[in-house]
Parts: sequence; C-alpha cells; structure tokens
Amino acid sequence: MKNQFLRFIGKDGVGKPMTDFQFDSLLPVSLQTLSPYQWTPEVVIQFTWNYLKEESVSSIMDLGSGVGKFCLILSQYTKNKFPIYGVEDRNELLEVALTLKTNLNLANVTFKSQNFLKSFPYGPSHYYLFNPLYETMKGSHSIDDSKLKSANLFLHNLQTLKELLYLCPKGTKLITYHGFGGSVLPGYKVQKKVNLDLGEWIVWERV
Ligand SMILES: C[S@@+](CC[C@H](N)C(=O)[O-])C[C@H]1O[C@@H](n2cnc3c(N)ncnc32)[C@H](O)[C@@H]1O
Repeated sequence: MKNQFLRFIGKDGVGKPMTDFQFDSLLPVSLQTLSPYQWTPEVVIQFTWNYLKEESVSSIMDLGSGVGKFCLILSQYTKNKFPIYGVEDRNELLEVALTLKTNLNLANVTFKSQNFLKSFPYGPSHYYLFNPLYETMKGSHSIDDSKLKSANLFLHNLQTLKELLYLCPKGTKLITYHGFGGSVLPGYKVQKKVNLDLGEWIVWERV
C-alpha cells in the first residue's frame, strides 16, 4: 500500500487532496469496486469543506467512516484546522483506514472501532453521515454479508439513530449525503439543502 501511496501522492500528500482515482488506487481491489456506492466522492468532500471553512467547528465525526475516505481527504483540505474523527464497526475497514492514515501522515484524524448505535460518540460540533443504515435494506453493492438485511431492522435502527441525535446539544450540525435514512429528524431543522449531481447534501441543525 505504501508504494502505491508514494507512486501517486509523493511527498505532497498532506497538502494536496487526493482525487477519487488516487484514493481508490490505495485500496484492495474488492474495496475499490465498492467506491462509487460506499465511499464519499472527492467532489462532495470538497463541497463539504467549502461549507465547513465558514463554520465554527470544534471537531467533526464521520458516523460509519468505512475505509476513511471522507476523514482523510477532508483532513488534506483542512490542514489541521480542527480534529477529525471516524467511527466504524467493521474492523477490516477500520484497519484499512488506519493504514492509510499512517501512510498519508495525517495526524489530526482519529479512527475508532465503534458501533454508533450502541455507543454514540457525543462531543463534536459537527457530524457527517453517508447513509450508513441503508445497508440493512436488501439491495446490491453491499459491503459484505456480515449484517442482517431486514426492513424491520432498518426501521428499528433509524428510530434509535433519531433518538441518539435528539440528545445532541443545541447548535450541533449534522451533514448528510444521501440522507440519514428518513425524511424527518425530530429536534432538527434543515439549514441548507443542495442537490449535488451525485446526490442530496443537507445540513441539519439541532434547535
Ligand atoms: C456508505 S458507507 C460511508 C463510508 C464513509 N463515511 C465515507 O463517506 O466514505 C457507510 C459506513 O457505515 C458503516 N456503518 C454502518 N452502520 C454502522 C454502525 N452502527 N456503527 C458504525 N459504523 C457503521 C458501514 O460499515 C460503512 O462503512
């Protein structure tokens, strides 16, 4: 992995955000094929950064950080402006994210093994969600078969997520790409909504 990193990124890696192609080239082939469906496109990360740089951010947390693409490329944009966290409950994805973080030498990113539905990481001023509950629905492009697919489980998880998000302090912002699974989020108002070419991007604010 390190050789590929050096070949594509070189010594400028920290200051120069990776393209989708460059990021994908660092992944095992099985995870590359999931890229268009599971890992946030670079253009969406750049769009999110353009929003965040005008915000007062204490830290941002990616709920379901996968192979770390959102956190790592955002970190290349932010240049250590604020801490970036990711929690992921698939340890094999977490391992990939941790290896990439080391190879890219991005010190302000922290990844943790955690199921956010069981232990919610309270504290950040901002959260990011790329539809992590969708995987409970039957459909193609699944990451793996490790989780049960069930509409009832999806609804149960959605309710749990809404209740956990409700407990965030007022002013907390949640950025969703392809949504959080529902259309109504109790305790939140939509602050910004943009139909990007690749999907809907929304900022929700706890009020
Ligand atoms: C659509 S992918 C997005 C990955 C990453 N946020 C990105 O934008 O590149 C959703 C991720 O959420 C993870 N996930 C789903 N439910 C989770 C849970 N309850 N706790 C932690 N991670 C979860 C999945 O394993 C998957 O890696």
